Amino acid sequence: MERTSITIEGGNQLTGDIEVSGAKNAVLPILASTIMLDGETTLLNIPPIGDINSMVRMLNSLNIRTEYRIDESIHILNEKKIRHIAPYELVTAMRASFFVAGPLLAKTGFAKVPLPGGCSIGLRPVDIHIQGFKKLGVKINFEHGFVEFSAFDLKGNVVDLPFPSVGATENIMMAACLAKGETVINNAAREPEIVDLANFLIKAGAIIEGHGTSSIHVQGVQSLQGVKDYYVIPDRIEIGTLLIAGGITGGSVCIKNVEKSYLAPITDALSKAGLVISYENNNVRCSANGGIKSVDITTEPHPGFPTDMQAQMMTLLTVASGKSIIKETIFENRFMHVHELVRMGANIKIDGQIAIVSESSLSGAEVKITDLRAGAALVLAGLIAEGHTIVYGLHHLNRGYYNLMEKLTLLGAKIVT
Ligand code: UD1
Repeated sequence: MERTSITIEGGNQLTGDIEVSGAKNAVLPILASTIMLDGETTLLNIPPIGDINSMVRMLNSLNIRTEYRIDESIHILNEKKIRHIAPYELVTAMRASFFVAGPLLAKTGFAKVPLPGGCSIGLRPVDIHIQGFKKLGVKINFEHGFVEFSAFDLKGNVVDLPFPSVGATENIMMAACLAKGETVINNAAREPEIVDLANFLIKAGAIIEGHGTSSIHVQGVQSLQGVKDYYVIPDRIEIGTLLIAGGITGGSVCIKNVEKSYLAPITDALSKAGLVISYENNNVRCSANGGIKSVDITTEPHPGFPTDMQAQMMTLLTVASGKSIIKETIFENRFMHVHELVRMGANIKIDGQIAIVSESSLSGAEVKITDLRAGAALVLAGLIAEGHTIVYGLHHLNRGYYNLMEKLTLLGAKIVT
């Protein structure tokens, strides 16, 4: 039976080498994009976590066959007529299911996808996706909680995004791959996971340029073909979480096989907080070097500091000397970990979208996870708190981290399930 809580004994130093899993936020749109690919695809470095299982179930419900293999690869066979209705329970279980809209439209000319509701970290509307699709000639109809998209002819166009939304950039970029003519996405998001999705689509036959910049150019093609053995990039948020685990416990953790180029927004912040970051070949190491220093953080679209690391960084800053200001600009309700950290003795005050974090001494407590990254923050807090911390609500963590407790234990954490 899946465990629902863990007990962490605080005060143990984490040291050692470890590898992380493939990036959840790259795997999800890549899986969705296989709706557009004819034939067989094999993806490598795919962790069997909750969100990825949800996307696989979504593909199955649309008539795509999948086989997950023990070597963490997934084999996908797209040879039957695609269904174009995304089931309600899958979209409500995971917002990223909305990523199927673009590929379904491109492949079948129709998509019927439930309007995803808000989630614990914010309202998360999909208006930017919808405006972008309209620019490609898509007709949109809202009915009975579903969004119905139809486009007998997807036409390339210039799409100016009002905000560099990650999901909207991906959805529009995917749909544009099979549209007629050229699509230019301006003010596009630049996250490394978008670059990985574009690289995958290019292997499938798409013509994309400018991915990783704020202007993506897509030249539509007639069809896309399955891709053999595509290796998904390592998860930068898991890397950042484990680097903090090393630094916050006064230890030294080395993550093997990383992509240095996309880690700077995270590692620069850790360096400013007084941790020592060093690279050897494809490995990155984070070591403690005396005390942690206060640092001000503002979450921003890439290459700014990622919102998905805000909660973990806040835990680190609870033990920094001085006062740190953390400003969350991406999601309107992403401070839910604060109440639980405060219950562990953290000195944090919230003023709107700003958290003021002062030096604290954490003590073990019973705490509850409210969302994925909040869970990581509480686990990190448990590693340094005096005594034992019991963390409830593990299912949130299992949505996005693969074997996190096992990895931390390998590095020296004392965790009882
Ligand atoms: C993706 C990531 C998530 C990360 C986020 C920001 C995946 C599966 N998830 O989520 O982990 O935290 O990027 O880096 O890749 N917005 C609108 N209208 C829209 C779309 C977005 O108002 O149509 C708002 C959202 O409510 C949010 C902000 O824009 O406040 C950022 O959202 P977006 O960049 O789209 O994030 P996601 O793609 O949902």
